[in-house]
Amino acid sequence: MWLGIWIAVSPLVAAEPGYVSARACTPCHSRVAESIAHTGMGRSLHAVGSQPSIEDWERRNTLHHAASKRTFVMSKRGDEFFYLRYQDGPKGERINVVEKRIDYVLGSGNHARSYVHRTPDGRLLGLPVAWYSAKGGYWGMAPGYDRADHADYRREINGNCRFCHTAYPRVEQKEPEAIDCQRCHGPGEAHVAAPSRANIVIDRKIGLCLQCHLQSTSQHEWMTRVEGRGLFSFRPGEALASYARHHDEDNPAFEVNHAGYRLLRSVCFRQSRGSLTCTTCHDPHSRQVTPACSSCHKDSKHGGDCVACHMPKRIAEDAPHVTMTDHLIARRPGRRLPLKPSAPRPVMDSTPAALLNRRGEALYRQGRVGEAILILRQAIAENPDLPEAHINLGAALAARGDRKGAEAAFREAIRIAPEYTAAHRNLKLLEKIVH
Ligand code: HEC
Ligand code: HEC
Ligand code: HEC
Ligand code: HEC
Ligand code: HEC
Ligand code: HEC
Ligand code: HEC
Repeated sequence: MWLGIWIAVSPLVAAEPGYVSARACTPCHSRVAESIAHTGMGRSLHAVGSQPSIEDWERRNTLHHAASKRTFVMSKRGDEFFYLRYQDGPKGERINVVEKRIDYVLGSGNHARSYVHRTPDGRLLGLPVAWYSAKGGYWGMAPGYDRADHADYRREINGNCRFCHTAYPRVEQKEPEAIDCQRCHGPGEAHVAAPSRANIVIDRKIGLCLQCHLQSTSQHEWMTRVEGRGLFSFRPGEALASYARHHDEDNPAFEVNHAGYRLLRSVCFRQSRGSLTCTTCHDPHSRQVTPACSSCHKDSKHGGDCVACHMPKRIAEDAPHVTMTDHLIARRPGRRLPLKPSAPRPVMDSTPAALLNRRGEALYRQGRVGEAILILRQAIAENPDLPEAHINLGAALAARGDRKGAEAAFREAIRIAPEYTAAHRNLKLLEKIVH
C-alpha cells in the first residue's frame, strides 16, 4: 500500500547513495555469490526467461476463474511470455480480450511465482494468475485474487513488494534486481573501491532479517516507519526499531511471511535472552538449515526429528496453495492440517478512491497527518465503501489523539467488510496505543 513504485517514474522510492550493482561483488566473492544465486532470496525477482522455466506454458496453461468469469491463458512465443485474458460472450465468442507481455517474475518459485508486466511508461503491474510449485506445479489465482471483483491487471507492484523482494534501487538503474549482498551488508561502493573489513558491515542481529521477515505480507499497515525515514533507508547494522515499529507481534495468523513474528512468540526465543536468531539455524548464504535444537536442549529426554513434531509444515492462511514451516516452536504445535483460509483481503486497485487512499496513507507515513486526513476524507467521499480508507483514516485520527473518531472509522470499516481483520486488530490496538 505504498505509493512509490519504480524509481524512473516515481521519486517516492528514493534511490539511496553508496550502492553499486548487485553484480559488483561477484568477482572477489564468487563462492558466496554462487551460493546466494541458488537461494530464494537470490532469485526473489528476475527477468522472465532468465531462470529455468518451471511453468507449464503449453499444455495445462489455461485457467478458468468462475468467480470473476474470466479465462486466462499463459503462453510462450519465441523468447517472450504472455498472459491472455478473455470472457465468454453471449454466443460463446471471446469478449473483453486483453493480452499482456510478462516482463518479470516475482518469487523464486520455491513455493510460488507471480508475474509482472511493465507498462510503456515504466509502471509495474501484477498479474492475477500465479504458478504454485506444490503437487508438481499448477496455475492458480494469485493470493488476494480469488474473488469476483479482483484487481485484474490494475494492481501495481509498488514499493511495498519491492522493499522485501529486490536490491536497493539505484539512480542509474534500468532493471529491478533481486535481493543482493548489500541488503544485508550495506552500501558497497567504498568497499569495492578499496576492500577492507572497515568499510563493509556484518550484522548478526535478528533485526537484519526481520526488516523483511517480520511483518505479514499483506498487512502493511502493521508497520509504521519512524518519521522521516525513507522506505529503503534501513541500514544493516542499525537497530530495526530506529527504522520502523511493528505492531503485530501478537498476530495469531499463520501466513507466508510468518517466520519472524512466530519465532518471536516462541518460548525458545523469549527465554534465551537474545541468543536465538535466524542465523542460529539458517546459513544466510544458502538454503542450508541446521535446526540446532540440541545446542540448547542438551538433555532433552526424547530424540528423533525435533522439527517434524515441533515445527510442523502447515498451509499459509494468506496463500492457501502454499505450505510453510511453522516457526512457533511449541510444546503442542498448531494443527498440521490446512487451517480455514481467512477471508480474502482487499487487493490493490487503481480507482480514484483507491489512489487517494494510498496517497493519504503515504502522507500519514511521512508524518503529514493533517494532510493525510484531508485526502482520506476525499477518498471516502469518492467511494464510501472502501474499507482501507476508513482504516487509514482511523489510524491518522488515532495519531492525532482523536480516539472517538478513530474508533468510529474502524467500526465503519468493519461494517463494510466484517472479515477485514486489520480493522478488528486496530480497534484492539487503540486500547493499547492511544492514551
Ligand atoms: C576487489 C575485490 C572485492 C570486491 C569487489 C568486494 N570485496 Fe568484499 N572483501 C574483499 C576482501 C579482500 C575482503 C577481506 C578484507 C580483509 O580481510 O581485510 C573482503 C571482505 C568482505 C566481507 C567480510 C568482512 C569481515 O568482517 O569479515 C564482506 C561481508 C564483504 N567483503 C562483502 C562484500 C560485498 C557486499 C561486496 C559488493 C558490494 C564486496 N564485498 C565486494 C574483496 C572484495
Ligand atoms: C530484503 C529483504 C530480506 C532480508 C533482509 C532477508 N530476507 Fe530472507 N527472504 C526474503 C524474501 C522476499 C524471500 C523469498 C524469496 C523467494 O523465494 O522468492 C526470502 C526467503 C528466505 C528463506 C527461504 C529459503 C530460500 O532460500 O528460499 C530463508 C531461510 C530466509 N529468507 C532467511 C533469511 C535470513 C536468515 C535473513 C537474515 C540473515 C534474511 N532472510 C534476510 C526477504 C529478505
Ligand atoms: C514484508 C516483506 C514482504 C512483502 C511486502 C512482500 N513479500 Fe513476498 N515474500 C516475503 C517473504 C519473506 C517470502 C518468503 C516466505 C517463505 O519462504 O517463508 C515471500 C514469498 C513470496 C512469494 C513466493 C516465493 C517462493 O517461491 O517462496 C511470492 C510469489 C511473493 N512473495 C510475491 C509478493 C508480491 C507480489 C508482493 C507485493 C504484493 C510481496 N510478495 C510482498 C516477503 C514479502
Ligand atoms: C540475507 C542476508 C545476507 C545476504 C543476502 C548476504 N549476506 Fe553475507 N553474511 C550475512 C550474515 C548475517 C553474515 C554473518 C554470518 C555469521 O557469521 O553468523 C555474513 C557473512 C559474510 C561474509 C563473511 C563470512 C563468510 O561467509 O565468508 C562474507 C565475505 C559475506 N557475507 C559476503 C557476502 C556477499 C559477497 C554476498 C552477496 C553475494 C552476501 N554476503 C550476501 C548475511 C547476508
Ligand atoms: C538458543 C537456544 C534454543 C534453541 C536453539 C532452541 N530452543 Fe527450545 N527453548 C529454549 C529455552 C531457553 C526454552 C525455555 C526453557 C525450557 O523449556 O527448556 C525452550 C523451550 C522449548 C520448548 C517448550 C515450549 C513450551 O511451549 O513450553 C520446546 C518444545 C522447545 N524449546 C523445542 C525446541 C526445538 C524443537 C528446537 C529446534 C527446532 C529448539 N527448541 C531450539 C531455547 C532454545
Ligand atoms: C530453531 C531453528 C530455526 C530458527 C531459529 C529459524 N528457522 Fe527458519 N526454518 C527452520 C526449519 C527447520 C525450516 C524448514 C527447512 C526445510 O524444510 O528444509 C525453516 C524454514 C524457513 C523458511 C522457508 C520457508 C518455510 O517456512 O519452510 C524461511 C523463509 C525461514 N525459515 C525464515 C526464518 C527467519 C526469517 C528466521 C528468523 C526470524 C528463522 N527462519 C529462524 C528452522 C529455523
Ligand atoms: C514424536 C514427536 C516429538 C519429537 C520427535 C520430539 N518431540 Fe519434543 N515434545 C513432544 C511432545 C508431544 C511434547 C509435550 C510433552 C508434554 O507436554 O507433556 C514435547 C515436549 C518438548 C519439550 C518441553 C519440555 C519437555 O521435555 O517436556 C522440549 C524442550 C522438547 N520437546 C524438545 C525436543 C527436542 C530438542 C527434540 C529433538 C531432539 C524433540 N523435542 C523431539 C513431541 C516430540
